[in-house]
Amino acid sequence: MTDFNDVYLKKTPKSKTLFEKATKVMPGGVCHNIRYFPPYPVYINRTKGSKIYDIDGNEFTDYWMGHYSLIFGHAPEPIIYALKEQLENGTHWGITNNLQVEFAELVHNIVPCAEMVRFGVSGTEATMYAVRLARAHTKRKIIAKVEGGWHGGNSFLSVYIHKPYDKPDSAGLLPEATKYTIGLPFNDIELTSQILLKHKDDLAAVIIEPVVGAGGFIPAEKEYLKALRELTEEFDSELIFDEVITGFRLALGGAQEFYDILPDLVTFGKILGGGMPIGAVCGREDILDLASPLKDRKKWDSALVGGGTFSINPLSMIAGIKTLSILQKDERKIYPRINAMGQNARQGIEKVLIEQGINAKCTGVGSLFQTHFPYEEDVTLKNPRDIEFLTDAKKRDKEFKLRLINRGFFVMHGGGAVSTAHKESEINQLIEAASVIGSKMK
Ligand SMILES: Cc1ncc(COP(=O)(O)O)c(C=O)c1O
Repeated sequence: MTDFNDVYLKKTPKSKTLFEKATKVMPGGVCHNIRYFPPYPVYINRTKGSKIYDIDGNEFTDYWMGHYSLIFGHAPEPIIYALKEQLENGTHWGITNNLQVEFAELVHNIVPCAEMVRFGVSGTEATMYAVRLARAHTKRKIIAKVEGGWHGGNSFLSVYIHKPYDKPDSAGLLPEATKYTIGLPFNDIELTSQILLKHKDDLAAVIIEPVVGAGGFIPAEKEYLKALRELTEEFDSELIFDEVITGFRLALGGAQEFYDILPDLVTFGKILGGGMPIGAVCGREDILDLASPLKDRKKWDSALVGGGTFSINPLSMIAGIKTLSILQKDERKIYPRINAMGQNARQGIEKVLIEQGINAKCTGVGSLFQTHFPYEEDVTLKNPRDIEFLTDAKKRDKEFKLRLINRGFFVMHGGGAVSTAHKESEINQLIEAASVIGSKMK
């Protein structure tokens, strides 16, 4: 038993007991495997601003922020107020409503490529429909995704997520479901061009997270995204940006605004819902039009893009409208501030760990950051493959994580997403904690 494990066990006895109960009724005691970490996760019951509280009464500064979706922190007043007002008027209608139109107009005005918008309830659903739309529109089969890209539990894209890349990322996937999904080496223009050229006649789309999330918060090089844009145009294929993480975070208009590159389709989730469940696929009118019920065409010439029972539920609509409206109004204040804090976190954590003799690299861009522990000194982490093969994920997700929890910080992959609820002083405290931890990690 290590010292940091002991401290964790002493600090979280109620979570331990609850975890034991939880494992009897839920596989692994969780409903999303990313939320499990050994020896057991903390179970929380209260949040406010930058803080979360567990059932043992511990307070943590949270950098996970609801899977990076809470750009204003936990329970922000304007959103909670809007939700409370809406609650009186129903939680779910399932009928066309005024809010969906107002919200779609906002998205259309903010997101460069969003000529048309269709809302659903999760990012997974959005990427599933984006792939379907691209295949339907191009009448082709192949989808190229980058190695290390995570697009939710979507069967078509459940390959090339984690090493070994040549094996599926789940049991229960028909080989046929991923037969037409190919992997691309992130940020490698030459190899990517060769692969796409080989498949160009049947290439429906390339889907990419402009900053790979689960793959290590590595930003795409602008030249790489430009090359993807040019190649997909040349091959009459479509470019899909999965902006479930980067949307409304890298900039108000997301990564497409940040990089100034226009995809054909974009998928959203997370921030878009203002803390409520959401997904959206948006993009070119001629592509989204395949989902329209107004066209007189055969069902097999249309694209079934559901949205689902709970799509356009008034709570998600109102929270999303309020969130985007605030981001739009305060854009000039919000983004420079959270981005500066993100940069401080990246630079500060990396510096103090290196000063303590630890091989460390902080990746990310804007308000996003992760900390990695390379096996060797002075490595460059250029893509998810480097993260998978050149860094120690256990050290990051077990030791560093538990040691941070013991000191009152909740992180994911050694970092997270800075929100407007965070203060500069909290980032400095995190850096200080990393320094002390670094001295013990040797
Ligand atoms: C880039 C990306 N795409 C898609 C998804 C799936 O979204 P959801 O969890 O809402 O289904 C995620 C979730 O983490 C994501 O990070």
